[in-house]
Amino acid sequence: MSKNIELYEESKRYAPGGVHTSIRNVNPMKVFTKGEGAYIYDAEGKKYIDYQAAFGPIILGHSHPYVNRKVIEAIERTDLYGVGCTDLEVELSRKICQHVPSAEQVLFCNSGSEATYHAIRLTRAITGRAKLIKFQGCYHGWHDYVARNMLSAWDMIGKRDPGSAGMMDEAIDNTLICTYNDLDDVERTFKENPGQIASLIVEPIPHNIGCIMPQPGFLEGLRELCTKYGALLIFDEVITGFRHSIGGFQKVAGVTPDLTTMGKAMANGYPIAAVAGKREYMQRFNTYPGGDVWFAGTYNGHAVGTAASIATLELMENEPVHEHIFRLGEKMRSGIRTIHERLGIKAYVAGFGSVWTTYFMETEPKHYAELQQNDAELYVAYRRKLIDKGIFKMPMNIKRNHISYSHTDADIENTLDIIESVLKELIVK
Ligand SMILES: Cc1ncc(COP(=O)(O)O)c(C=O)c1O
Repeated sequence: MSKNIELYEESKRYAPGGVHTSIRNVNPMKVFTKGEGAYIYDAEGKKYIDYQAAFGPIILGHSHPYVNRKVIEAIERTDLYGVGCTDLEVELSRKICQHVPSAEQVLFCNSGSEATYHAIRLTRAITGRAKLIKFQGCYHGWHDYVARNMLSAWDMIGKRDPGSAGMMDEAIDNTLICTYNDLDDVERTFKENPGQIASLIVEPIPHNIGCIMPQPGFLEGLRELCTKYGALLIFDEVITGFRHSIGGFQKVAGVTPDLTTMGKAMANGYPIAAVAGKREYMQRFNTYPGGDVWFAGTYNGHAVGTAASIATLELMENEPVHEHIFRLGEKMRSGIRTIHERLGIKAYVAGFGSVWTTYFMETEPKHYAELQQNDAELYVAYRRKLIDKGIFKMPMNIKRNHISYSHTDADIENTLDIIESVLKELIVK
C-alpha cells in the first residue's frame, strides 16, 4: 500500500471520511506532508506545483519565511489574554482601516464563516428586518444564514436548496436567492419583499464557482439598489480581499459596501478573519459600550493570526506582490489561450489577477446556470491528469486556481508545457 493510502486509511479510522472539511475527500486522495513556496509534497515525497493554495489563503507561498519568522517572534513573547486588547490587534486594525475603503472600523474573528455570520446578524439588528439576499452559486460559509443554493444540482437552481440537513427552516426561508449579474432579478426581489430585506451579501467575484466576472455596472447597481431599498450591502471579500488588492476588490471596482468580510489571503494561511464597515454600524457590536449585537470568541485576536496578517500585509505594502502575481496570472491565461488556439480547443479561460480557470465551454459564463454548458467530465479529467504530472489543482468541477508570490516564470512555463501535453492526450485524438 502506498504511504498516501496507508495514512488516509488510518485517518478514516479516527475522522469520519478521513478528512476535516467536507470537500477535501477527492480522487485522487493525497496526504500532504510538506509545503514550501510554490510547491507541496505528498507523503511519498512527490512534488507538485500548487495552485489549490488551500482554497486561496496562500498568497505569498507556503511556509513563507517572513511570515513564519514574524509569527515565531510574536509567540515567543505573547499569545492570548482574553481581556483588553493587544499591540498586534492595534497594528493590524490600523492597517486594515488604512487600506480597505469600507473599513472605518474592524473586528477580528477566526474564520470567514464567523465573519459572514456576524456581518449578517449586525444588518438584522440595524435594519430591524429579517431577510437576506444571496446569489445562486456563491458561498459564504457553513452556517444556516447562508448555506443554501451553493453548488446546487442543475435542477435545483434558484429553488429551495438547503446545503445541509439540520438547518432551521426560518433561516433557509429568510435567505432569498437571486441570479448573479442580473440587476432586474435583484430589484424584483426587493419589490416583492417590501421593507423586509436587511442586507444583500455578494462575493464581488464569485470565485466559489471559478471566476465569473461582474458585468460592467453590476456592483454599482447593487450599491444603488441596497441604498434605494434601505438594505445594507455586504461584500464578502474572504477570497477577493487582499488577493486582488490590499484594499480588496472594492478598491479595484470603486464600489464601497456598508460591511466587508475578509479572511484567507489576509494572513497567508494562518487562521484569522475580519468583519469591517462603517463606524456607526460597527459600534452596534457589544465590544463597544452599549452595543447590542453580540460579538465574542475566545481566540479572537490571537497573536498567531494577528502577527501573520501584519507580516502578510507588510510584504504587500513593501514588495511588488500584486504586480508579480497579476503578471504571472496574465502569462498563464494568455499562455493557455494560445495552446487552445494551437490545438483548436474551444474553451473559455476566465480569471482575474492571480486567479484563473478553464471552463470547457465556448462563451463567457455570466452566472451559475450558464455553467451547465461546461463539460464537467472533461474539466475533472483534465485536472486529475495534471495532478499525475505534478500540477496540483483541485480535482473538482468549476474550481479556480491561484498563483502566489513564490511562483516563478519557470513554474508557469513548466505548467503550460504540461497543460499542453495533457490537453493533447485528452482532446486531440
Ligand atoms: C467567499 C467566502 N466566504 C466565506 C467563506 C467561509 O470561510 P471559512 O471557510 O474560513 O469559514 C469562504 C470559504 O471558502 C468563502 O470562499
